[in-house]
Amino acid sequence: TSNSIVVVGSCMIDFISYAPRLPKSGETIKGSKCVTHFGGKGANQAVAAAKLGGNVTMVGRVGVDDWGTRYIEHLKHLNVNTDHVKITLDAQTGIAQIIVANSGENLIVITCGANDKLDEKDVVLADTVIKAADVLVLQLETPPEVAIKALELCKGISILNGAPAIANIDSKLLSMPTIFCVNELEAATFTGLPVKSESDARKAGVELLNKGCNNVIITLGRQGALLMSKTGKTIHVPSPVVAAVDTTGAGDAFIGALAYLLANRKEMSMEMCVGLACVAAADSVTRPGTQRSFPGIEVFGMS
Ligand code: RIB
Ligand code: NA
Repeated sequence: TSNSIVVVGSCMIDFISYAPRLPKSGETIKGSKCVTHFGGKGANQAVAAAKLGGNVTMVGRVGVDDWGTRYIEHLKHLNVNTDHVKITLDAQTGIAQIIVANSGENLIVITCGANDKLDEKDVVLADTVIKAADVLVLQLETPPEVAIKALELCKGISILNGAPAIANIDSKLLSMPTIFCVNELEAATFTGLPVKSESDARKAGVELLNKGCNNVIITLGRQGALLMSKTGKTIHVPSPVVAAVDTTGAGDAFIGALAYLLANRKEMSMEMCVGLACVAAADSVTRPGTQRSFPGIEVFGMS
């Protein structure tokens, strides 16, 4: 079997409305269709890695409602180990309300529900798998102290996806992970700097390194990603150019692919892994939806 990946994070049910454009504040506009999918950044990243063939265990919480049991079945069906996905008796399954415009832009409101109840004890119960993980993947849709506990146990490579961004982050969440990965908007929140161009992103990356990060990846959408490290030079990794249909979850496709590659392609440089993660993310935006749009291993055109 392949090397192990553990994702500690969120499971949400996505209610996605497709509309010609994003509504303005206070405005009502007509959508063309509304669909329901399995989402949440944690589970999305777990599924992205599993669809590439990764050996993935999810640590998380769903609610006591129908969605919760269905979510666990769904993950099992996609070969994600759910031994550490708990049903929470006093909370609803997390819900994300998403609007996707024709341009591919989106807006998201999340109600975390059971995800907020994930705690350090849940992480300790999974300590055997976390300690054995080649790659640990974390986000911020579950409590930050949960991520810190998991980082304390981790002996492999750790990736913290700083999403959604929080203004006053515990500095341990910057200094403990091997890789701190954010998009431009999140980089702006974490640094307090405007991030509107690649050169802004470079400045934000320097600031994040100064704040204690070991390696920083700032994803730049169609422009690929910036890879910066304490020790090395800054590398701008390009992305293939595609026609975007739905960019929702593209960041999760990127992180899941990166985790898969770092776990299973140890001969590859970080730069190569980031480049291929951009390939997976770009491919996912050419199809609607989140998890269902994530590619299999054939996307890399290698065996
Ligand atoms: O990153 C995309 C995800 O963010 C969606 O699936 C939604 O659940 C939100 O959490
Ligand atoms: Na997509």
